[in-house]
Parts: sequence; C-alpha cells; structure tokens
Amino acid sequence: MQLTWSHAVLNIKDEASMLDFYTKTLGFSISDRGPIAEKGPDIIFLSQTHDEHHQLAFVTTRKAEDPPSALNHIAFRVQSFEDLQNLKTRLEAVEKDFLPLSHGNTLSLYFADPEGNGLEVFWDTPWHVSQPSGIVWDSNLDETAALAWVEATFNQDAEFALREDAQGKFVNRTP
Ligand SMILES: [Fe+2]
Repeated sequence: MQLTWSHAVLNIKDEASMLDFYTKTLGFSISDRGPIAEKGPDIIFLSQTHDEHHQLAFVTTRKAEDPPSALNHIAFRVQSFEDLQNLKTRLEAVEKDFLPLSHGNTLSLYFADPEGNGLEVFWDTPWHVSQPSGIVWDSNLDETAALAWVEATFNQDAEFALREDAQGKFVNRTP
C-alpha cells in the first residue's frame, strides 16, 4: 500500500473573502459545491489540476469566535521559478505579507490566507538538503542568482546532493 496526498478540507468563516483570495490571487477554480447533508452547510471544492477533482475544499461552519485552526500549513508546488515570481506579484498586489524561505530543496513563499491558515507555495531546486533546513532568501533575485545563492548557502550540508541522486534514500531510514 502507498498513500499519496490528495486534498485538505478547511472549516471556514467568511466564504466571500476566502473564495476571492483562493480564486483570484492563488488561481483555483471552483469545481463543485453543495450542501454536505440535508440542511447541512455547503462544501465548496477547489482545484487547479486536471487529475484532482478537489485539492482543497471549504466547509462553511466556522464561527467568527472560533479559535484559530490547529493547522500549521498546506503546501503547493509550482512548476517554474516564473510561477513563483508570478505569485509574489499577486501577493504584493493584494498587500499580503509573505516570508521567502528556502529549505535548500525548495524556494518557498510562506503566507496566510484571509482566515490565518498557513500556506506555502514552493518551487523545487535541483538539490536534496537534510531537513529541517530553512533560510530566508531574497525573492527579488532572478532564477540564476537564486539558484546560485541556494547552492552557495546549502552546499556544506552533510546530505547536499542532486535530487535524483538522493531520491528514495530518506523514505525508509530511522532518524
Ligand atoms: Fe512545508
């Protein structure tokens, strides 16, 4: 048996602001919506890939006074450095603070949605680096400069290697 990741479901408070952010800023489409049960709250399905009906879903059940979610963050991968730059531009356009953090194996942007749920959007670097690792990077760098910075910053790491050479080595080990 192998479990592969599919989706997360968030209980939300404010449908309008959440859908606005997830569709306009992050680029999701609504793939379906409807009541969970007779007279139940709506569940709203969101995706931006062809192979998942929903990568995220929202259930409109959280009350304004409910405590913050226990969720730390949800992460999404983008396919190019340009995609990451594009996201940065979109976040800046809606004045959303973000933290550019590199795990060595990623260049990531961390930010929160309108209800404070943590999100990470990352682009894979060519390298494997031991984890946890995280250093703030300059998100104004271009792709070549950013990759040069990653290599210079993480190449002393004990596990630093090309991703394809490291693949599989960390799955069955006991830290
Ligand atoms: Fe993460």
